[in-house]
Amino acid sequence: MSVPIIRTVAALREDVAAWHKAGEVVGVVPTMGALHQGHLSLVRAAKAECDRVIVTIFVNPKQFNSAEDLENYPRTEEEDARKLAPFEVDAVYVPDGAQMYPEGFATTVSVAGLTDVLCGAVRPGHFDGVSTVVTKLFTQTQADRAYFGEKDYQQVQVVTRLARDLDLPITIVPCPTIREEDGLAMSSRNLLLSDRARVWAPELHRAMEEMAAGLLAGGDIAELRAAAIARLERAGFTKVEYLDLRACDDLRLLEKPDVPARLLAAAWLAGVRLIDNIAVG
Ligand code: PAF
Repeated sequence: MSVPIIRTVAALREDVAAWHKAGEVVGVVPTMGALHQGHLSLVRAAKAECDRVIVTIFVNPKQFNSAEDLENYPRTEEEDARKLAPFEVDAVYVPDGAQMYPEGFATTVSVAGLTDVLCGAVRPGHFDGVSTVVTKLFTQTQADRAYFGEKDYQQVQVVTRLARDLDLPITIVPCPTIREEDGLAMSSRNLLLSDRARVWAPELHRAMEEMAAGLLAGGDIAELRAAAIARLERAGFTKVEYLDLRACDDLRLLEKPDVPARLLAAAWLAGVRLIDNIAVG
């Protein structure tokens, strides 16, 4: 079974125009490849709700903070195509750099506020890169619905805001984080973990669950955070970039889960940056 790979905007637009002319609903699943069950759950959701499904694969240089991180990012196009084959998607859009950012490309899409905190604070420019490429993917695919994993919770908030602010005719559909059996959130970056680090990586989720339970029991956030960080350090995590309780609607910092809240974390283990988030309450 082969997948219909499309590499140019012109070819993609031709297909999408025909689908829209036939009154079909088009869904898009934007990815950077190295597909795992998390991505495939998005494809499954899109297939259930849309007449046509496009998966995009583009490792977006604008959202990486270091050349080394960009270079190390896993690229597994053949394997990705093999994984997508059983889903019978209608197009796998794999543009190259020139297609996405032609000579003279000079526009940046930037969402204020939401992007100053969490990953945005430690990865300057990251969300501008995400917002710019996602806006392009939306306008290139002209999809009606776009599927994003809640593992990148802040990204979902940013993309939802930009679609609303720019009146983009697309519905953003957040989908739950998919986890390994031991609780580790699925991520393409997990491929970079050594065998030893992979054993300890689920501690991030466990420490967050423990902290969330403590918060719900009325515990002090500073004490609970200190205990969680100590637990992570014992597991070999070298740096916790953030471990914050934030409001679901605007990501403002909270002390208590007295409104719909999310615990969000980013931490380094053996040279790999892991992020995760869970609902609190
Ligand atoms: O979540 C990702 O894989 C990327 O940030 C996205 C949305 C495909 C944009 O490059």
